[in-house]
Amino acid sequence: MIIDIAGKVVNLEAVLLQGIVQGAELERDLFCRDEEISRYNQMLQMYVSCDLSVDNLNILNIGCGICLEATVLYNHFKKADNSVRLVGIDMHVEAIEYAQQQYVSFGENMNFVCGDARELDWFVHDFVDIVVMSHPEIVYSNGTWKKIVSEAMKVHVAGGLWLNTFYFEREMDTMHKIIAPDYEIIFKGKNEHAREVVSFFCPHQYVIVARKK
Ligand SMILES: C[S@@+](CC[C@H](N)C(=O)[O-])C[C@H]1O[C@@H](n2cnc3c(N)ncnc32)[C@H](O)[C@@H]1O
Repeated sequence: MIIDIAGKVVNLEAVLLQGIVQGAELERDLFCRDEEISRYNQMLQMYVSCDLSVDNLNILNIGCGICLEATVLYNHFKKADNSVRLVGIDMHVEAIEYAQQQYVSFGENMNFVCGDARELDWFVHDFVDIVVMSHPEIVYSNGTWKKIVSEAMKVHVAGGLWLNTFYFEREMDTMHKIIAPDYEIIFKGKNEHAREVVSFFCPHQYVIVARKK
């Protein structure tokens, strides 16, 4: 597919495969961060129930990048009487270093790890209550993300929440097919709070919220 990114005509598959998307996303994220954070928060309020009654809630954000959504995710699930711990994992060194600096004030309640999510056993020791993936490359990655999803499902507790956002409907549909046997879909569809699409990099256009059976 040929697309236009910031005035450059490029082959989408080639861009994604070369990993150039990481740098472009970093720039996009930093460019409109406040608006994105606010929109993500509105999406959470609209589609994601925060009624999990777990005293020590573990959130795992896989392929978290710079994890712009960390604070709103934390606040969404934090109540007066529970503790919330968010862990983000990504292979992108620069993004993880940025996230580590950004959320240092949360101390032990937020942790960002540089590593390969195709293997999660080495650092996930407790079951995860909430699995988050924003823009998983499920359609383009030659099996990498299918492996990541299967690892995530292994560490996800029964009854836990699964929250994904996507650029494209076909990515959402692909993820749906993969998780359908093990998950009950709570919401799947267009995110009313996403920005209007003006370029390829318009985040969180489609949402899946599901519960592990
Ligand atoms: C499309 S980006 C999304 C980043 C961020 N979640 C966002 O919404 O802006 C996909 C991310 O997955 C990460 N990733 C790809 N393969 C990975 C793997 N095997 N283990 C961990 N992270 C991976 C990439 O480094 C990249 O940051």
